[in-house]
Amino acid sequence: MTNPQSWASAADPTRRVGRAVEFHARIGSTNDRARELLAGTDGEGVAVVADLQTAGRGRRGRSWASPAGANLLVSVGIRPRLDADRLPLLGLAAARAVLIACRQAAPGVALAVRWPNDVVSAEGRKLAGVLAEAASEAGQPPEVILGMGINTNWQRAEMPDEIAVSATSLREVTAAAVNRVALLGDLLEALDRGVAELEAGGSPVPALRADAWLDGKLVEVEAGERRVRGTVTGLRDDGALLLLTDDGPVALQVGEVVRVASAGSAGVAA
Ligand code: BTN
Repeated sequence: MTNPQSWASAADPTRRVGRAVEFHARIGSTNDRARELLAGTDGEGVAVVADLQTAGRGRRGRSWASPAGANLLVSVGIRPRLDADRLPLLGLAAARAVLIACRQAAPGVALAVRWPNDVVSAEGRKLAGVLAEAASEAGQPPEVILGMGINTNWQRAEMPDEIAVSATSLREVTAAAVNRVALLGDLLEALDRGVAELEAGGSPVPALRADAWLDGKLVEVEAGERRVRGTVTGLRDDGALLLLTDDGPVALQVGEVVRVASAGSAGVAA
């Protein structure tokens, strides 16, 4: 178990994202605590970390399971200086930051991003996920909570069957224990850079195109009421997933890949 004091060493007061770290042995959801902090005067950029969440949540109303002290569970609230049309790129920038940090912890291991923001192994096993939640009222300057869960030292033998079937962890892909504090430091640094790049007019999309796990694969995506089936042809500049369906090309801005029917030839980089 990580010494509670040691989490502070992942903070860097010269950064905006991750300038401080607040550790909780047990909490409902780190996203909720980051939201509370952001509502105060000095909460932007504080990384909230927990050993255990009693109400951890994932995308689309799912829960996020993680045994005490095994994984990295972290949320940061930010006030992005971005126009509304570029806000969806924030979740992609967070996924890119998670990928960078995971690669630092697992050098030489092939990892990729499965749209929109899962980090997966070459076989498509989920290693990490991002939950981006809006925290501001309509018409107000944007406030966003970025919650990131990285399966770190969780061994597949200890995962419930329904998770083990499609998940992995840094420990599994490296066959070694991973230091969660160092992983957090790398993640916060990459996220701080990613947010600054976005605000300066850059985009995570070109890098994500090079690291896209779904390219060339035949998939089914749940997008609202629709279920769209097609072959993934890439990412649009705004982060939408591009598919070639029987009815022609389709771009999906939001959605969840619920089925991957066949593997294409696209490889993944280490
Ligand atoms: C997903 O892939 O569905 C997103 C998972 C996000 C989980 C993290 S763990 C830290 C933060 N707190 C939460 O309650 N959820 C996110």
